[in-house]
Amino acid sequence: MTQNQRLLAWVDEITTLCTPDRVHWCDGSQEEYDRLCAQMVKSGTFVKLDERKRPNSFLCRSSPSDVARTEDRTFICSRHQSDAGPTNNWRDPAEMKAALTDLFRGCMRGRTMYVIPFSMGPLGSDIAHIGVEITDSPYVVCNMRIMTRMGQPVLDVLKDDAFVPCLHSVGAPLKPGERDVAWPCNTDTKYIVHFPEKRSIWSFGSGYGGNALLGKKCFALRIASAMARDQGWLAEHMLILGLTPPRGETIYVAAAFPSACGKTNLAMMNPTLPGWKIQCVGDDIAWMKFGPDGRLYAINPEAGFFGVAPGTSMQSNPNALLSLSKNSIFTNVALTPAGDVWWEDMTPETPARLTSWLGETWTPDCGKKAAHPNARFTAPLAQCPVADPAWDDPRGVPISAILFGGRRPTTIPLVFQALNWQHGVFLGSIQSSETTAAAAGAVGVVRRDPMAMLPFCGYNMGDYLRHWLTIGAKTEADKLPKIFYVNWFRKSAEGKWLWPGYGDNSRVLKWIYERVTGNAKAVETPIGHVPAPEALDTRGLKIESRDMTELLRIDQAGWQNEITGIRDHYARLGDHLPAELLQELSALERRLTQGG
Ligand code: GTP
Ligand code: SPV
Ligand code: MN
Repeated sequence: MTQNQRLLAWVDEITTLCTPDRVHWCDGSQEEYDRLCAQMVKSGTFVKLDERKRPNSFLCRSSPSDVARTEDRTFICSRHQSDAGPTNNWRDPAEMKAALTDLFRGCMRGRTMYVIPFSMGPLGSDIAHIGVEITDSPYVVCNMRIMTRMGQPVLDVLKDDAFVPCLHSVGAPLKPGERDVAWPCNTDTKYIVHFPEKRSIWSFGSGYGGNALLGKKCFALRIASAMARDQGWLAEHMLILGLTPPRGETIYVAAAFPSACGKTNLAMMNPTLPGWKIQCVGDDIAWMKFGPDGRLYAINPEAGFFGVAPGTSMQSNPNALLSLSKNSIFTNVALTPAGDVWWEDMTPETPARLTSWLGETWTPDCGKKAAHPNARFTAPLAQCPVADPAWDDPRGVPISAILFGGRRPTTIPLVFQALNWQHGVFLGSIQSSETTAAAAGAVGVVRRDPMAMLPFCGYNMGDYLRHWLTIGAKTEADKLPKIFYVNWFRKSAEGKWLWPGYGDNSRVLKWIYERVTGNAKAVETPIGHVPAPEALDTRGLKIESRDMTELLRIDQAGWQNEITGIRDHYARLGDHLPAELLQELSALERRLTQGG
């Protein structure tokens, strides 16, 4: 166990507050994992999948009221409201702490309280940080074991007070003798609360994903972004991939796309371009710090994938499917009669009969989805056939290019490059995308989502953009990653994707590789550097030249509209927005008018 006084005192305090029946310190062993899984099978939380089809894997169905992150119940409780900024829900920290203390009082009655020590990043890495999650959900324990480095080895390296306390409860105490439900949660009351100055997290009422696996969005993005601001590094909602040409050196690329906009797909894609190779360092989060050589080095703080299941197939993302062939947890997918999992578009043929994510009999004509659109798999990164050899390297990997992107059916070209770092920060600040099922709420509405961090930035968004500008001034320009904007989601007037996407995105990555290493042709346009005609490798691709032209066209009218949208967006960000970005906006407007 541990001699860490701060940790022991905190566990005592929470035990007294939450009054669980038992306290269990997680050692992270396989034996412990197996025991918890067996216990959840017995209690009805888990269904064991057929051992021959999917060894050591389980299906879990959540409550239909608890299927995605709840952004409207997520709070940043900094001392001053201006430090949370206009894009976050804010409450006074003392008031919130008092309200939460009341909520948590007795909330683990009838349950076991688990203490989960975890490291975000390789144990002992300079870029890594340690957290301890206390939870009353064995589902959370098993997911955390896949998603993080977890257990006794973490306690062994834990020093003094260097951990982020993360408190979680499903918020469903049991009366004496009361039978538990398969997915306990609190339907009426949910709070996902961050105290950035105290560096602590309190989460109540939800057992799902980012609401409950507190190492992920709560720690590795919201709390870590505040730490990064104070300490001069970056905590970002980005995949990290290694990109290797047929002959030549590997470069590393990080990419920020909003939730359910293609990070997992890009991070482990099989290129359609012969001889090119992509290897996966991470699919969701990147922590980047300057190395001694003045370059930015990134680690993936996670150790697993918590990926969107629907749409994942041997055609769209074979390496994801292969990653989850064993030792995986599936949440809110459908169950086949043979005891395996299924979701929309997983296989070319739809099964005749399934048990849906709601636990109901499902047939193709029943008019409902078999899997929830935000159904997820949890799988160890080490099982990915294209895991990068450096994915677990404590030093991290040097980043040569940063991509911003999102789902935009119009206006935004397939790819263009920023003119310089400040212009790149501007492009990140105006990032926008149609909303998806990853968060509760309307789907398909375009919203501005700076650097894909709108729901994940733990402080004032204006200050965050300032921090990005500051990072750019910390090293020589030629050591900074080059910044690009991509959009795989442009549609024709008839509503069809103009770009095939997936493995063919390697064609765009090739241009990016060649821009970074020196010699790809580009045209300078009012919005940035766009590939010159013929500079994008489309050999072997069946695409009409009309569509290719459209994909790279600067849509004057569309961009004029965009300017109006950006002005509104900037006005909402308020007075912390760096003046440099307003200047970039005016400069863009000027270039568009002159060029149009
Ligand atoms: P989070 O885990 O929520 O952060 O999502 P993510 O960014 O990792 O998204 P993911 O890779 O899981 O993609 C979600 C969905 O986007 C997929 O199921 C696909 O339907 C779609 N998608 C991914 N890549 C492409 C692409 O290149 N083109 C098109 N048209 N769709 C894509
Ligand atoms: C996202 O929504 O961006 C996710 C899933 O990666 S969750 O862990 O639920 O936040
Ligand atoms: Mn994500």
